[in-house]
Amino acid sequence: MEKIKMTTPLVEMDGDEMTRIIWKMIKDELLEPFVDLKTEYYDLGLMERDKTKDQITKDAANACRKYGVGVKCATITPNAQRMTEYNLTEMWKSPNGTIRAIMDGTVFRAPILVDFIKPVVKNWKKPITIARHAYGDIYKAVDYRVPEKGQAKISFKGESGEEWESVVYDFECPGVLQGLYNKDSSIESFAHSCFKYAINTKQSLWFSTKDTICKKYDGQFKAIFQQVYEEHYKEEFEKLGLEYFYTLIDDAIARVIRSEGGYIWACKNYDGDVMSDMVSTAFGSLAMMTSVLCSPDGKFEYEAAHGTVTRHYYKYKETGEMTSTNPMATIFAWSGALRKRGEMDGLADLQNFADQLEGACFDTLYSGIMTKDLVGLAEGIDAKAVTTDKFIAEIRKNLEKRLA
Ligand SMILES: NC(=O)c1ccc[n+]([C@@H]2O[C@H](COP(=O)([O-])OP(=O)(O)OC[C@H]3O[C@@H](n4cnc5c(N)ncnc54)[C@H](O)[C@@H]3O)[C@@H](O)[C@H]2O)c1
Repeated sequence: MEKIKMTTPLVEMDGDEMTRIIWKMIKDELLEPFVDLKTEYYDLGLMERDKTKDQITKDAANACRKYGVGVKCATITPNAQRMTEYNLTEMWKSPNGTIRAIMDGTVFRAPILVDFIKPVVKNWKKPITIARHAYGDIYKAVDYRVPEKGQAKISFKGESGEEWESVVYDFECPGVLQGLYNKDSSIESFAHSCFKYAINTKQSLWFSTKDTICKKYDGQFKAIFQQVYEEHYKEEFEKLGLEYFYTLIDDAIARVIRSEGGYIWACKNYDGDVMSDMVSTAFGSLAMMTSVLCSPDGKFEYEAAHGTVTRHYYKYKETGEMTSTNPMATIFAWSGALRKRGEMDGLADLQNFADQLEGACFDTLYSGIMTKDLVGLAEGIDAKAVTTDKFIAEIRKNLEKRLA
């Protein structure tokens, strides 16, 4: 069989631990035999990041900006224990944070659904994609332990000399105090990423804040979204039969629980943080969650939502035996990136390959062959746990059948 051709390189970012092992298996077994893979390779493994003083991460993110599509393996975010384990020269920042900042992007997380894993919320039938505005608010807040009785004030001094001051509270006893901020430019980028991603995936967009209470702060989020929608996306949304729907966060939660899914839910930073964990757990498994970083100018970076699965890696290193780590989200990161590359370059064969690769994964799962994490969640199917290599080998057989 002639291999499928690519015209533009895909930015490939390798990673750490168990996911690095799986990365190679996916390339060897599921991609390179079928596709004449054209990638620009960046090794984001922790050792290479340390060696290059993290320049490699910045280079990879800039390459994503240049080519428009990247695919990333999970990577270690160093902590004190990793500093000793890898003898690091510095506690490098999270690569995902660095890439997100350079691409000015929003992360969209969506579950991979299979019929035999029932969501905890029984009316959920389609994926719910969470878009989190990962900038500012409480994550960049200044907070203070008020030690005694006294007055707390908040003030602003403009470049023009304009000044503003307001009393926050007259403390009659000790307490706590916090000051937060966000920026119009960041909210606008967030809005553009959300509307673009909604059009791209042909899903309606919900957005929620608490603007009845935070009239100026959350009110500004609401106003910017509405303005960006009307000025740039309303026409396209209407043409595609999509809806932009704004509601209060409490109303949104009630509606989400009662809905059947199939839309994007854009959330402010903290709401997105907690709601994405709630939604992913309720859908079944972190190992079945995909993640796409989308920039406001339409560049994409695909990855699995989970980490490097350290526990499995140490077991694999100690025993030399293959573990039963779920490669689904990493395979879907590749298929998502290849499909997008195919769309951008007008390569129907590459888009079809991405569809067939995902199809072969589902064929395998519905035949009852799966990794251990899913066996415990599977209902109404004769499920058999296999190791990652056996699971991938089975996917390859199904892929060959589909492509024959
Ligand atoms: N996007 C990223 O690159 C990313 C995200 C999260 C964590 N991390 C890094 O990953 C490392 C490990 O972090 P962690 O243990 O908190 O998170 P993790 O997602 O790697 O694992 C948490 C637990 O979830 C389960 N799990 C996750 N993925 C699985 C899979 N594919 N198959 C089977 N079970 C799976 C396992 O029980 C595992 O113990 C850390 O160094 C962290 O910095 C990276």
